[in-house]
Amino acid sequence: MKAFILSSSPRRNGNSALMAEAVRDGLAGAGHAVDFVYADDVLAGFLRDCRQCRQADGSCAIEDNFRDVFLNRFLPADGFIAATPVYWYGASAQLKAFFDRSFCYYAASYPGSADVIRQMMGKRIGLVLASEETFPMVSGGIVSQMQEYTRYTRGTFAGVVHGIGNARGEVARDPDDPIGQARRFGETFFTRHASDYQIDTPRGGRVWG
Ligand SMILES: Cc1cc2nc3c(=O)[nH]c(=O)nc-3n(C[C@H](O)[C@H](O)[C@H](O)COP(=O)(O)O)c2cc1C
Repeated sequence: MKAFILSSSPRRNGNSALMAEAVRDGLAGAGHAVDFVYADDVLAGFLRDCRQCRQADGSCAIEDNFRDVFLNRFLPADGFIAATPVYWYGASAQLKAFFDRSFCYYAASYPGSADVIRQMMGKRIGLVLASEETFPMVSGGIVSQMQEYTRYTRGTFAGVVHGIGNARGEVARDPDDPIGQARRFGETFFTRHASDYQIDTPRGGRVWG
């Protein structure tokens, strides 16, 4: 399978990037193709008013790498893993901008929007987080947003790896070993058990075995 990892902290040697690299190693070790991208290499700006700045061919006029990365690297992937620090109890602005900027290509006013929407659907999705604080709801807003994104795009939410640290790389000292968790998350990303029942979902009484 093909995975796309977006590392969205501006700190390339920071905590979420370290965990994202471990996910990459796990995926690669399990034989999957992995594309690893730093959001800062992709995005030079936020979403603008598409009606004002869209080009004649319908594409986004912001001069950066988003078009290429979104259309040619994100869309063809079977799985998407977003790595972000917790900033103000939310995701980094870079990760949010990546989602927002996709609007330019799935909006009906883009000539290829139907194909874009088809390719946005059905991905396996994972989340990697770093925060200084430990209380569970520090990540609540981000997890909730990713779950809703997954539901909206009819994907499968494969799970979250959350490491605690503040100084660069400090997450390696988190006794819960989030780097090891991230590697294992990568190894099993495309196969791990992930459920989201509805009342009429057919199921047996046990989860394992
Ligand atoms: C602008 C900013 C806002 C932050 N907000 C929070 C926060 O709300 N809660 C928290 O636990 N940590 C917060 N932090 C700390 C980071 O989440 C923490 O340093 C994390 O390890 C950074 O990840 P990175 O190394 O991948 O950039 C904030 C850091 C910055 C720079």
